[in-house]
Amino acid sequence: MSKLWGGRFTKQTDKLVEEYTASITFDKELAEEDIQGSLAHVTMLGKCGILPAEDVEKIKDGLMQVQSMIRRGELEYTIANEDIHMNVEKKLIDLVGPVGGKLHTGRSRNDQVATDMHLYLRKRVVDLVELLHKLQEALIGQAKANLDTIFPGYTHLQRAQPVLFAHHMMAYVAMFQRDIERLQDSYKRVDMLPLGAGALAGTTFPIDRHFVAEQLGFGRIYDNSLDAVSDRDFILEFLSGAAITMMHLSRLCEELVLWSSTEFAFIELDDGFTTGSSIMPQKKNPDVAELVRGKTGRVYGNLFGLLTVLKALPLAYNKDMQEDKEGMFDTVRTLQGALQLFAPMIATMKVNKGRMREAVNQDFSNATDIADYLASKGLPFRQAHEIIGKIVLYCIQNKKYLLDLTMDEFKQFSHLFDDAIYRVLQPEQVVDARAVYGGTATAQVSGAIERAEEELRRT
Ligand code: ARG
Repeated sequence: MSKLWGGRFTKQTDKLVEEYTASITFDKELAEEDIQGSLAHVTMLGKCGILPAEDVEKIKDGLMQVQSMIRRGELEYTIANEDIHMNVEKKLIDLVGPVGGKLHTGRSRNDQVATDMHLYLRKRVVDLVELLHKLQEALIGQAKANLDTIFPGYTHLQRAQPVLFAHHMMAYVAMFQRDIERLQDSYKRVDMLPLGAGALAGTTFPIDRHFVAEQLGFGRIYDNSLDAVSDRDFILEFLSGAAITMMHLSRLCEELVLWSSTEFAFIELDDGFTTGSSIMPQKKNPDVAELVRGKTGRVYGNLFGLLTVLKALPLAYNKDMQEDKEGMFDTVRTLQGALQLFAPMIATMKVNKGRMREAVNQDFSNATDIADYLASKGLPFRQAHEIIGKIVLYCIQNKKYLLDLTMDEFKQFSHLFDDAIYRVLQPEQVVDARAVYGGTATAQVSGAIERAEEELRRT
């Protein structure tokens, strides 16, 4: 089969080279974007008088035919045509004849492929933000249903201070909010048009890059042609935003896995979002959470892969850059898959309020509050801390919790204690006492929920 670039060659490409260098097996994912870009390009060639109107019409017609063939799954891609750009162009020429060969006027595959990827990511970023909003909604739903659910807050995975389960859910809402903002910010660099940069230096044809940008709905165009064909940092930004989002998801995954163990028994994931064991009939495994946690690795890998590909590449285009695609596609698919499952998995999660409360009643997570109590009575906090440490030790030795101590026992440690201490130590009081902005007090968490819902309504 003759190559679109065959003129300069006297021999056929080695079969293995053809296979090794082709990207069609994966860049066919850019088919829609490739046609979209070509339609805008050829319209511009007509508008600028570079191609006669009848040629433009024929080419557009042909491109639409190729597009419907692609949509019906009828276009047969071949490795001999290397990549999506040449597969589409070859088909176009087959369909409309030599006039199809005019499409590539004033354009190179270098600015073409960069344009396709900008178009591809522009749509995906919007879709992912939408999915993140859905996940936030599910988390807020759990927060609202658990404004009265107290459970142990941890540091070092040791019981620290009781918090509202709603507060914990809202912490993730805040993380995903920053992920959304990062994606939205990266969108500014995705929303730029490289087309018109040619192979690297621009083009001799009097094209109108702004007109193409307008047709494709790009906010700006690249200022420098060398940069336009060499830049892949818009993909790096996306990949790093995705990696951070996966890291957040993975932390939540870890908690879901822990919480659904018999040892914690804080939550139960819905049957629809868990799987069984082929040997142990009693098992209900949190596979989705585990797998999202596991897939975080490949998303990190994709970021590092591309950073390494680009490192030390001289300007402008180098074939190395063809390696920019698979990791990007894989990241979009992986993140999309995770988010699609996560929202309903969180929404259907059963929270075992009773078990959480039991945990709080059987620990020393209210110890800080007695220290604060003595400190508010004028004792230096360090001394109060020391005294409470001794009380906790006494309790452990006598198999008691703080609320089990009698007033006489309290008084052995400090004469400052009075009956009010029994109220101070109640979990509800412990939680509601943390009324600082951003704290776990019910009123603060309600405020956080209201703000988050308001933010969701605005988007
Ligand atoms: N398939 C190529 C890629 O993905 C398209 C650009 C090819 N340009 C070139 N000069 N060989 O990077």
